[in-house]
Amino acid sequence: MMSKQSQWKSSTGFILASAGSAIGLGAMWKFPYMAGMYGGGAFLLMFLIFTIVVGLPLLMMEFTVGKLGKTYTTVIYEKLTKKKWLNVIGWNGNLAVFILFGFYSVIGGWIIIYIFNVALQILTLNGNQLGSIQFESIISNPFLTITGQGIFILLTMLIVMMGVEKGLEKASKFMMPLLFIFLIVIVIKSLTLEGSFEGLKYILQPRLEEVSMEGVLFALGQSFFTLSLGTTGMITYASYASKEMTIKTSAISIVAMNILVSILAGLAIFPAISAFGYSPTEGPGLLFKVLPKVFDQMAFGQGFYLIFLILFLFAALTSSISLLELNVSNFTKNDNSKRKPVAFYVSILVFVISIPATLSFGSLGHIQFAAGTIFDNMDFLVSNILMPMGALGTTLVVGQLLDKNDLKAHFGKDKLRLFIPWYYLIKFILPIVIILIFVVQFI
Ligand code: TRP
Repeated sequence: MMSKQSQWKSSTGFILASAGSAIGLGAMWKFPYMAGMYGGGAFLLMFLIFTIVVGLPLLMMEFTVGKLGKTYTTVIYEKLTKKKWLNVIGWNGNLAVFILFGFYSVIGGWIIIYIFNVALQILTLNGNQLGSIQFESIISNPFLTITGQGIFILLTMLIVMMGVEKGLEKASKFMMPLLFIFLIVIVIKSLTLEGSFEGLKYILQPRLEEVSMEGVLFALGQSFFTLSLGTTGMITYASYASKEMTIKTSAISIVAMNILVSILAGLAIFPAISAFGYSPTEGPGLLFKVLPKVFDQMAFGQGFYLIFLILFLFAALTSSISLLELNVSNFTKNDNSKRKPVAFYVSILVFVISIPATLSFGSLGHIQFAAGTIFDNMDFLVSNILMPMGALGTTLVVGQLLDKNDLKAHFGKDKLRLFIPWYYLIKFILPIVIILIFVVQFI
């Protein structure tokens, strides 16, 4: 991201940056394990419906708000509505992103530990040491995991402090397509394994009897998570955008890329699950257990696995820098001279809250309440409460308080006449959908 006055040069720059922020652990790590826990194909179907019917219009909404308000998100609501208390929506997003960074860094840390292991050949793919034997002992080792996440947070902090995100955007032009190619290679390998068909069926065939209310809620949460909705992250990105930025094209590309990466991740993991006899309900470790085994079957598997992990880390970092950046822009009020200290203090706090999240895979694993472990609860709080609440707040502001013509002017050229259906969806339907899904979970 950039400082307040600067703008993206082109729509492509904007799309690349916001796609980098949106596409991360959500699509690749979280989607497969969520799908594994909540019905496979049925989850995929619900996720697709929510992403297209709810997520896409909400993303267009966040882009429109950013373009209209052009400032950081803890004042943007006041600026647009003249009601100061509505800034609480911005603070809600800020809090969401702060906690999110806390548990995101746990997974970022795992990736770093795997990179070291594979690079230094401490553990080999051979005999699947990394996949199953070592995974549990790695993630329950407090020293290793806390160091791993510390490095992840440190990397994020340094990038944000130095303001070299621009360089990262350039790098993402080839890193992201490369990651994409790798995913396709893994999918092909996975699909050609013996016994892969069961898994393929599991992820592609919706068995509606497996839809539960909880699954519906988690599918909605997953759509919010992958598209970074309700955290105001996307509002911030759009607030840097120039007038020419096309809301619809940008939103549609990001949604399409996210869906594609999620499906590829599913196709990479599930066939391998059945081929190797894993359980789809492994939880957050799923990707880390299954992938080493797939690479083990490839020529030069260890080398390819290392490259894959580095690309994966890159995708996670382009998301985590925007998580930190959002806090930095809110607490510095876009004053760049305070950038370094604020980035430093926020990172320290994130590190502190990430420690119990990490330990919930080890010594604090026995602490279970509400949604599960401490880690599960942090995720649940963010993805299924704070993000939907933030999105709900913004729909109410946009639908009830903002001027329709103003919105229309910022919606951009509208050859397909999407504005009217979009507007009424935001004004009447989506708030009710969010409230309903929300209320039902507490009954
Ligand atoms: N969408 C990101 C991912 O899939 C995670 C995320 C959620 C995020 N909210 C965000 C990233 C806000 C940046 C800003 O990994």
